[in-house]
Amino acid sequence: MAPKPGRAGATMASLCLGIALVSPSAATVDPILERGRTVFLTYCAGCHGFDGLAFLPFAPSFAMGERMYKSDYELLRSIRRGRNGMPSWEGKLPDDWLTAALAYIRFMDRAGREGAPVANQVPAYFFLFPTNPGAARPAYLVIPD
Ligand code: HEC
Repeated sequence: MAPKPGRAGATMASLCLGIALVSPSAATVDPILERGRTVFLTYCAGCHGFDGLAFLPFAPSFAMGERMYKSDYELLRSIRRGRNGMPSWEGKLPDDWLTAALAYIRFMDRAGREGAPVANQVPAYFFLFPTNPGAARPAYLVIPD
């Protein structure tokens, strides 16, 4: 079962629109990072943690630099195709959402190294994943507020 962008997608569209309208110069807010953050918190954080400190055993903690020695090419390939406990994301989310999520992952790594780790609020909507991703039919649940 693939997670459905549904309401999260709509929320993100209005968020991006909001940024474009409120701060057209975007001096302080990078719209790609902002999109990446939303994607990460909605679809990835259930395993990789809201602050980049993983909940799921064997999922890397990006805020601690795990896997960050790999190239963008390698990491994107894993994101698109899936890797061991991680589902494949290709065709489930738009590709530019995946590259934006990777940009945000790099940002969390940098922030951690610079001694100012990210501290995100848990969003109203996110996907929760089972702790046994090897199960025959892992369940993907949407948690409404
Ligand atoms: C169901 C849990 C789960 C979800 C959801 C999930 N991941 Fe992962 N992810 C993992 C696990 C487990 C690994 C480690 C895989 C391995 O190398 O054994 C991983 C590894 C990765 C890696 C490192 C890949 C590598 O080549 O070393 C990246 C980057 C990544 N995930 C990004 C994402 C992004 C982006 C999302 C959201 C779009 C996401 N993950 C969602 C479980 C998850």
